[in-house]
Amino acid sequence: MSQVIEVKVPAIGDFHDIPVIEIAVQPGDTISVDDTLLTLESDKATMDVPSSVAGVVKEVKVKLGDKISEGSVVALVETSDAGEAKAAPEPAKPAPAATAPASAPAQPEAPRPPAAPSQPVPTPASQVQAPAPALPLGAKTHASPSVRLFARELGVDLTKVPASGPKGRILRDDIANFVKSVMQSPAGAPSASLGVGLDLLPWPKVDFAKFGPIDVQPLSRIKKISAQNLARNWVMIPAVTYHEDADITELEAFRLALNKESEKSGGAKITMLAFIIKACELALKKYPEFNSSLEGENLVLKKYFNIGFAADTPNGLVVPVIKNVDQKSVSQIAAECGELAKKARDGKLGPADMTGACFTISSVGGIGGTQFSPIVNAPEVAILGVSKSVMKPVWNGKEFLPRLILPLSLSADHRVIDGALATRFNVYVAQLLADMRRALV
Ligand code: COA
Repeated sequence: MSQVIEVKVPAIGDFHDIPVIEIAVQPGDTISVDDTLLTLESDKATMDVPSSVAGVVKEVKVKLGDKISEGSVVALVETSDAGEAKAAPEPAKPAPAATAPASAPAQPEAPRPPAAPSQPVPTPASQVQAPAPALPLGAKTHASPSVRLFARELGVDLTKVPASGPKGRILRDDIANFVKSVMQSPAGAPSASLGVGLDLLPWPKVDFAKFGPIDVQPLSRIKKISAQNLARNWVMIPAVTYHEDADITELEAFRLALNKESEKSGGAKITMLAFIIKACELALKKYPEFNSSLEGENLVLKKYFNIGFAADTPNGLVVPVIKNVDQKSVSQIAAECGELAKKARDGKLGPADMTGACFTISSVGGIGGTQFSPIVNAPEVAILGVSKSVMKPVWNGKEFLPRLILPLSLSADHRVIDGALATRFNVYVAQLLADMRRALV
């Protein structure tokens, strides 16, 4: 027996009165459970509202620009069988953050200039790339998560797609038209040229099974999103990595003593990561260029101090963000890191947990490593990599002493931060970790 069901906005965390920026369905559409009904965009994140039922849309209860919150009715859907209704709707799907905060537009974007007509490319259909002029440095694409997903599935670079939606928003049809135009171009013509004879070749296609047994596993959603963002950041950001050693002998002794005390009193454990976050906050204050983002020809300097940290999860890498670290003690930061890392591993981070970072720390020290070169997490301009601390003999002018040395690897966008500044920042972080009293002078 059919039944008309009200589909409501599910739990979306602390977001209220969020504008509707895209409506994906209209009366008469047949939809399945989890199909996107509409897209909301707050100043922090973009999120799709999925349908909790399958059926035919009878009425859409909202229009573009309406501001809605958790529980608002968005559509009436006629189900052929009441049993198709889910007990509770899935939470709204946030736009990917993780290493991908840039894929969730943080601010409204200026309309994009139309891309030039696409030229032919000799790439397979699964890797469609049309060599249209790149957007200006720092320019961002404006598209809903479902459209971004569609583009990713087709391997389309959104910065190349001419937008026809309001405020320069890229629509699903824009991607379809773009792919059609590329596919209709003569095959085998030259690809995008830098004019220096370094045209990119198509990705090598190898039949691995010819050489031995193989197993093909699909990438997780987080890995797919990360891949797109990491590739863009690696290619587009001229980053240099600067290495520094921090002598944390005293700090580690202090941390262990604190943890012994709190073990007795049942308090939370203080991690080295929490001290490193505090040191970075102080260094961001001293060197404000590190707390900035490039936007076209402007540098946006931030007056708030939010620090993201890379967290390893079974499904891939995510970057939860500790907000306003300048207003928190090291023990509060440690407790919050623990909570966010657990949420990350349980796959429960919401959009608000993963957006708004000014700077990121990637600590692999719990695993090992001597140094590495982290990829800057756009639109941030620097990231600090932390490897494993080890006891090393250090010459003090008279003798070698055993000191606990923590390797720091700072990657910084050279367009904003030159080598001297990066080294000053790194040295200051190392000095703070060696002796936090330095922050008082
Ligand atoms: N040097 C030596 N030991 C370290 C260390 C360092 N730099 N950092 C942590 N450790 C030790 C800790 O003291 C802890 O030891 P204990 O169990 O004896 O107390 C152990 O390693 C495990 O620490 P961990 O669980 O990693 O805690 P953390 O607070 O240091 O880190 C996360 C929390 C979320 C950052 C961490 O769990 C994680 O996911 N790291 C991987 C991040 C990553 O993949 N980055 C790569 C991005 S490309």
